[in-house]
Amino acid sequence: MAEKSYFWKIFNDTMQTNILVTGAGGQLGSELRKLAHTLPEARFFFTDVPEMDITDEKGVREFVVAHRIDTIVNCAAYTNVDKAESNEATARKINARGPEVLAQTAADKDILLIHVSTDYVFDGTAHRPYREEDPVAPLGVYGKTKREGEEAVIASGCRSVILRTAWLYSAYGNNFVKTMLRLGAEWEELRVIFDQVGTPTYAEDLAAAVLTLLPRLQEEPQQGEIYHFTNEGVCSWYDFATTIMELSGTDCRVIPIETKDYPTAAERPAYSVLNKGKIKARFGLTIPHWEKSLKRCLSALQE
Ligand SMILES: NC(=O)c1ccc[n+]([C@@H]2O[C@H](COP(=O)([O-])OP(=O)(O)OC[C@H]3O[C@@H](n4cnc5c(N)ncnc54)[C@H](OP(=O)(O)O)[C@@H]3O)[C@@H](O)[C@H]2O)c1
Repeated sequence: MAEKSYFWKIFNDTMQTNILVTGAGGQLGSELRKLAHTLPEARFFFTDVPEMDITDEKGVREFVVAHRIDTIVNCAAYTNVDKAESNEATARKINARGPEVLAQTAADKDILLIHVSTDYVFDGTAHRPYREEDPVAPLGVYGKTKREGEEAVIASGCRSVILRTAWLYSAYGNNFVKTMLRLGAEWEELRVIFDQVGTPTYAEDLAAAVLTLLPRLQEEPQQGEIYHFTNEGVCSWYDFATTIMELSGTDCRVIPIETKDYPTAAERPAYSVLNKGKIKARFGLTIPHWEKSLKRCLSALQE
């Protein structure tokens, strides 16, 4: 997917690196585990709540010292957008306090932190893809607490980048693709929203991007720099569902409905397409179109 760079070669030839992946039981963490072999010089430590709770400051500090961690990839998050509305304290603890603990530890120990955030920091009123510097205005608790996490990473002054992504799916965990396949097998007809637009992102592609960025970031330190990463292209949830049914050969009719006809606890941005120009220019990434990546994920699910 990405061009192999000069820095990649330096990294592979000379660098030993100990990488801590938090929230490793989730979608992105699982995809990183799958691709970890592509960085043979790196030693990975995959952790989730039982091994390391990112909100436990003492536990985090002890872990990074004991394992001589030099890089943290934070995949841990409270990702249930609707439940976050009634569990604000828990969402804030995981999405804001957790990144703060990781970032302060990273600042103290000179660790590189790659932190993952979301398109839901935007309110969705734009008419062109969001750039990194566009004003944020999250609509719900999930987006607000994720933005607080971004702010904590920036304020810590640690070596870090923030990767905002969107509409993540994978063969692992729960996500829209797996829900559509399950419901499509049970029902003749499904009603899906057509007036929310974004870009589905295969977590495997995001994991590959993280592993491409890593050696470059070791060589060229950055502090709190934000990058947008999704697959290429744009669609509505209705288009996404229709394509899932078509590509998987599922005989289920998808009916487009409006957001107002499908009330949810959390308000979501109507338009949350992210502009990926910055990450592509800076790191020479070539990003697959969402339909191509969806095909790969469906094949992985069939296997
Ligand atoms: N999913 C999306 O559509 C989406 C969209 C945009 C951005 N993102 C962002 O992308 C990143 C990865 O998302 P994902 O879909 O891979 O998330 P995910 O599948 O929900 O995985 C998150 C993992 O973090 C774990 N976790 C929760 N609290 C923790 C804690 N205190 N300490 C350590 N681990 C903890 C979760 O464990 P439990 O399952 O036991 O809680 C889960 O295994 C997140 O930053 C998310 O905000 C996701």
